[in-house]
Amino acid sequence: QRLYALIPAAGVGSRSGAQGPKQYQRVAGRRVIDHTVAAFLAVPAIAGVGVVVAPGDTQYHAADERIRVWHVGGETRAHSVFNGLLALSGAGARAQDWVLVHDAARCLIRPADIERLIDACRDEPVGGLLALPLPDTLKQATGQQAPPRVQATVERGDKWLAQTPQMFRWQVLYQALAARQASGFQGVTDESSAVEALGERPLLVVGSSRNFKVTYPEDFAMAQALLMHADA
Ligand code: CTP
Ligand code: MG
Repeated sequence: QRLYALIPAAGVGSRSGAQGPKQYQRVAGRRVIDHTVAAFLAVPAIAGVGVVVAPGDTQYHAADERIRVWHVGGETRAHSVFNGLLALSGAGARAQDWVLVHDAARCLIRPADIERLIDACRDEPVGGLLALPLPDTLKQATGQQAPPRVQATVERGDKWLAQTPQMFRWQVLYQALAARQASGFQGVTDESSAVEALGERPLLVVGSSRNFKVTYPEDFAMAQALLMHADA
């Protein structure tokens, strides 16, 4: 089975405070999305990289023959991923091939992290994702009152923070997202949640705290600092 990367990059970055979408901001000498795509191109097992941008977006051009750019971004991230899956299939992906969905905004991903996920999931029937065990003590708040108060401390040993890439068989992910299309992909914030709703149990593979998603204004400086130190 072949492995493809699918990079949703059709968001507007409303929380980032930047002028224009965050994936096109420059950090450490090149754009966020260029760092992201380069990490996947550096993994020999990846057969191709599909990038989903917004219709009418003229800011991204494939700089390598293994890259395809599709102007099929949707209303939500899940919609963009679903459209990207269809485009991947049009480009030759088969039902049992693997798709690694990765946020364009996670530009700190390293080839070694991607390879660890691939090695862990290759013999899985369905797939898995990079995730991090919770680093901090977890609190349950009381109802909706303001200011919020602690109701209880939650056992955190079995709680994980989901990252990307999330690696699934093309057909499994297609089925999972197709089932959510009618409801506008409501509540689908990652691929795994849609796959879980099919009754599957994706594998959790330990990621890295470095692989955070550039979301808020201060995240650009953090990304810049980490990108300048490859071993950080
Ligand atoms: N994304 C997408 N299509 C959308 C929304 C998001 O392809 N309709 C992509 C983003 O470009 C990003 C990834 O999904 O690479 C993760 O989403 P997020 O961090 O939420 O990015 P934005 O939606 O752009 O940011 P914000 O939510 O702050 O507006
Ligand atoms: Mg968003």
